[in-house]
Amino acid sequence: MPNVETDRTGDPRSTAAAGRRRLIRWFAAAGLSLAGAAPLRALTPTPRQTAGPFYPSVPPLDDDNDLTRVRGRIGTARGVIADVLGRVVDVNGVPIAGAEVKIWQCDANGRYRHPLERSARPIDPSFQGYGRVVTDELGRYRFRTIKPVPYPGRAPHIHFSVTPPRARALVTQMYAADSPENQWDFILNRLPTDQRAALIVEFAHIGKASGAARAATFDIVLAPTGGTPSTS
Ligand SMILES: [Fe+2]
Repeated sequence: MPNVETDRTGDPRSTAAAGRRRLIRWFAAAGLSLAGAAPLRALTPTPRQTAGPFYPSVPPLDDDNDLTRVRGRIGTARGVIADVLGRVVDVNGVPIAGAEVKIWQCDANGRYRHPLERSARPIDPSFQGYGRVVTDELGRYRFRTIKPVPYPGRAPHIHFSVTPPRARALVTQMYAADSPENQWDFILNRLPTDQRAALIVEFAHIGKASGAARAATFDIVLAPTGGTPSTS
């Protein structure tokens, strides 16, 4: 039969079905559907979490994206040095450039630098405690910090605040996958089980050539309104 492709069976109907399957596979690989250029499935927004009491009340002297060194001091933060990096995207996976990403966490002694922190635990003067960076054109951010440690009553965590251009901030927290405290942490467990996984990341061992011992990737998906409703 001229001008009609056939498959090995010679049946033009199965050839048409095979062609459609190939097309679906090709579109799926490209993240498209046959209905058009819409994504097959929107990404789930990163869950919102409480900011907690220790967001810096006064601007720190040093607020760059390397929390392991404090400007004007000799020395490196105590703790396991870790790179925390990722991308900020919208629910369609489109990178969000120019988003301000801020993090804050306690030092290796479990101590926040904040007037409300009343514990007798010593402060690590070489840990910055807070940092900020702006995402690049691919939505990427990167911090050098320490792997989070337990704080009394809490699982190890890093606070995040992500503010895209001309939109409100998403405030959330990120947790380490190897922390047994994740089982009982009262803030993490306010979330439904299926949402907790989005906030729990591996701190993978990496070669120390980069200067860090661990690396963790935490991608952040922003809803059109800047995040999901607060659970706190
Ligand atoms: Fe905290």
